[in-house]
Amino acid sequence: MSTQFDVVVIGAGPGGYIAAIRAAQLGLSVACVDAWVNAQGGPAPGGTCTNVGCIPSKALLQSSEHYEHAGHGFAEHGIEVEGLKLDLPRLLRRKDQVVRQNNEGILYLFKKNKVRFLHGRASFVGRTDAVFEIDVDGKDAGRISARQVIVATGSIQRALPGAAFDEATILSNAGALAIDAVPARLGVIGAGVIGLEMGSVWRRLGAKVTVLEALPEFLGAADQQVAKEALKQFNRQGLDIQLGVKIDAVTKGADGVTIAYADATGAARTLEVDRLIVSIGRVPNTQGLNLAALGVELDGRGFIPVDDHCRAEVPGLWAVGDVVRGPMLAHKAEEEGVAVAERIAGQKPHVDFNTVPWVIYTSPEIAWVGQTEQALKAAGRAFKVGSFPFMANGRARALGDTTGFVKMLADAETDEILGVHIIGPMASELVAEAAVAMEFKAAAEDIARICHAHPTLSESMKEAALATDGRSLNF
Ligand code: FAD
Ligand code: NAI
Repeated sequence: MSTQFDVVVIGAGPGGYIAAIRAAQLGLSVACVDAWVNAQGGPAPGGTCTNVGCIPSKALLQSSEHYEHAGHGFAEHGIEVEGLKLDLPRLLRRKDQVVRQNNEGILYLFKKNKVRFLHGRASFVGRTDAVFEIDVDGKDAGRISARQVIVATGSIQRALPGAAFDEATILSNAGALAIDAVPARLGVIGAGVIGLEMGSVWRRLGAKVTVLEALPEFLGAADQQVAKEALKQFNRQGLDIQLGVKIDAVTKGADGVTIAYADATGAARTLEVDRLIVSIGRVPNTQGLNLAALGVELDGRGFIPVDDHCRAEVPGLWAVGDVVRGPMLAHKAEEEGVAVAERIAGQKPHVDFNTVPWVIYTSPEIAWVGQTEQALKAAGRAFKVGSFPFMANGRARALGDTTGFVKMLADAETDEILGVHIIGPMASELVAEAAVAMEFKAAAEDIARICHAHPTLSESMKEAALATDGRSLNF
């Protein structure tokens, strides 16, 4: 079998596997190397996203939401549940099965698209006469070569100094997805996306959850009106979120962890928990790649430096996803993967970072695209605001989920939509309409004049658009 390819992709996360498929669709010969090993020692393509990220976290969020609804939400619908019991091993097995289905799906897609999958760890040997030589170590060990290489090696969890992950009591995202008994007391350091999503899962399943966040502001990247509403809802659910803390020491004991910290007033406090999730961000992963063999130097934060088209300094070398600048999101990685494959094939694609949506899959869900109100104010841009509460939406009332609102920001002069911020039911799905509108440079008036089906949550988007012009019909 040939060991020379047009393109070698290193990493089969959402950035890498999508790049490999797109390159193969464009007629290039492609190999994709991935090192992830499943519990049986076999390949598990899909990267962080599939194995310990997006997919398993959403499976647990769904199961835990069902459990919470059965316990607390069904009664108002006239449904009584007796003898409600949590079967945690089964819940975790289902999550593992969802992950496996995704792993197998990617292996199938590789076959279908004639991408050669190699299970092992890749490292650069060097580049001679414009050809990269790469060693693969593992089940499919050997040397392969290509003129074009896409690095999509993703990211890994950032550890807190003095609190190494043991995945038994001090947990990264991987351990947080596989706790074998609901802890009575769960600590979380970092009130970011992982902290809120995983904190929500274990709170719904019965843990008392305390979240310690260094910044004084909650969800600083989100629109602050949304962040304020989110904090209110999470507190109401029983998530104890403490802002502006400084962690002094994390000490592992016989049956738990003690966290010594200063609270926002500077007072010394301690928190004792059975398990601790540390979710303080992720760092780019270039371990063992041997980029030095190509003379590539990482930037100050460990990312592979690339231009707007994901082109690295060495001709023929590209990098996409979490290992390069920009948001660490699966769909951002995918868009970059497609764009790089198309650029290698001679096309001229473009990725617009301003229309990359953000979603936090808590309850209520939080989703946004474009600029926040505070960013527009800081930039001195004149804008109009239109908001519509789900409380006034018929479908939300029928669902029994009326928390939150849709908020649209539009340019004061041109009416162009600059940002849409949603907190409430199915925000993750609703935000797609906003992303499409912004990609087409729509005005708020465009959304206001589009016929939205009744009764749907999406009518709230239309109403928010109408509200930018003071014409809301149902509020
Ligand atoms: P990765 O998915 O990290 O994949 C990199 C792959 O490269 C891995 O399989 C790794 O084993 C392999 N690799 C690394 N080095 C080598 C080497 N030398 N040789 C061979 N293989 C190698 N994003 C969202 O958009 N939505 C979500 O809901 C979401 N939820 C998340 C939940 C959690 C708990 C976490 C941790 C992350 C979540 N993310 C989410 C972020 C998302 O997972 C990442 O942005 C995404 O996986 C990045 O894709 P990637 O292809 O760049 O890298
Ligand atoms: P994050 O960047 O979302 O949040 C980390 C939080 O930890 C921040 O609020 C930060 O201020 C805080 N922090 C940092 N150091 C601290 C310290 N010493 N003490 C207390 N707090 C501290 O990172 P997170 O949650 O680890 O997730 C990593 C990435 O994974 C996210 O940035 C996101 O891109 C991705 N992700 C995306 C999801 C989604 O799209 N729904 C879900 C989960 C993760």
